[in-house]
Amino acid sequence: MADFTSSFWSWFIIITTLGGILGCYLLIQWLSRGKKPEGKQIKTMGHVWDGDLAELNNPLPRWWLNMFYITMVFGVIYLVLYPGLGSYAGILGWGQTTQYEKEVRRAEDRYGPYFKAYAGMGFEELIANEKGLAVGRRLFLNYCATCHGSDAGGARGFPNLTDNDWLYGGAPENIKASIMNGRKGIMPSFGAALADDGVEQVAAYVLSLSGRDSDPVLAEAGKPKFQAMCSGCHMPDAGGNQAIGAPRLSDNIWLYGASPGSIKQTIREGRNGVMPAHKEFLGEDKVHIVAAYVYSLSASKD
Ligand code: HEC
Ligand code: HEC
Repeated sequence: MADFTSSFWSWFIIITTLGGILGCYLLIQWLSRGKKPEGKQIKTMGHVWDGDLAELNNPLPRWWLNMFYITMVFGVIYLVLYPGLGSYAGILGWGQTTQYEKEVRRAEDRYGPYFKAYAGMGFEELIANEKGLAVGRRLFLNYCATCHGSDAGGARGFPNLTDNDWLYGGAPENIKASIMNGRKGIMPSFGAALADDGVEQVAAYVLSLSGRDSDPVLAEAGKPKFQAMCSGCHMPDAGGNQAIGAPRLSDNIWLYGASPGSIKQTIREGRNGVMPAHKEFLGEDKVHIVAAYVYSLSASKD
């Protein structure tokens, strides 16, 4: 509740809430006094239906009135104990965030040792351990499958993790670093620098690198442009650079799709793939286990 930008809204809530409760109290006082029958006689309100069904001016039953008072007292006690009145935090100090953190801590105390047992194993030992891999697979399905697919086969913009084509390296430490710290691919846009003709030429050259059909004249014109503008990141032989996640362009495996249109779009507009960091979110133990699982998917292939 400390998120108000000015104390106005805090006071607004305090005054309307307390005013509301006080208002209810006064209203009930007033009505229960005003409706007391004069003398012993109970008056009718002068409304009669169906011949003999009359509206009487009886006071509310005592128990009924008391229920109203109890709800008011409950409301006031609640507002003293818990947050509710503007930015006043309540004397119990309860909050959604602290409650959530407490629950997470409890879960970690309970399940942490379970993960720790596997996290203590080296990668090779862990991928030979069936139970450990099953734990890794479940973690993967929970936390990674939304982007990389439940079979880790990836999708457009989300790399396939089952092949041996790695943006940032496929050694266990590299995979773990990708998951722990996240990754940001930075492919700048070249639409302005190359203009339309240049994009066509460079794209033709890129296609030719993996033996795809492309106009040889355009490709020839694109080659020096590639060497000048692209080889710094993608390397002169287009083999890629895992230190910055620049993909190999000579293997006909495409992160953003194989079509010439998509390749031209990449060159014209740039791309910025983001792998979120999981260090804080999952903790190193779980990352270690899921990294071993990912490693196991391609470790047997060459
Ligand atoms: C929000 C989507 C998203 C989630 C969730 C996600 N990833 Fe990623 N991941 C990506 C993207 C996008 C990339 C590529 C980054 C780039 O283009 O530079 C990537 C890259 C990677 C890489 C590097 C691949 C390579 O070729 O070097 C690994 C390993 C990886 N992710 C594993 C995981 C694991 C394990 C999880 C679950 C703990 C996970 N990812 C969760 C989107 C995601
Ligand atoms: C600053 C480094 C850098 C430069 C310069 C650069 N690239 Fe890239 N390029 C990257 C990175 C990093 C990616 C991966 C982007 C991602 O992960 O989202 C990429 C991705 C690509 C892709 C998509 C590959 C795929 O698998 O889908 C193509 C095509 C490409 N670059 C071509 C070029 C061309 C052509 C040039 C020169 C005009 C160029 N790049 C210049 C860093 C660079």
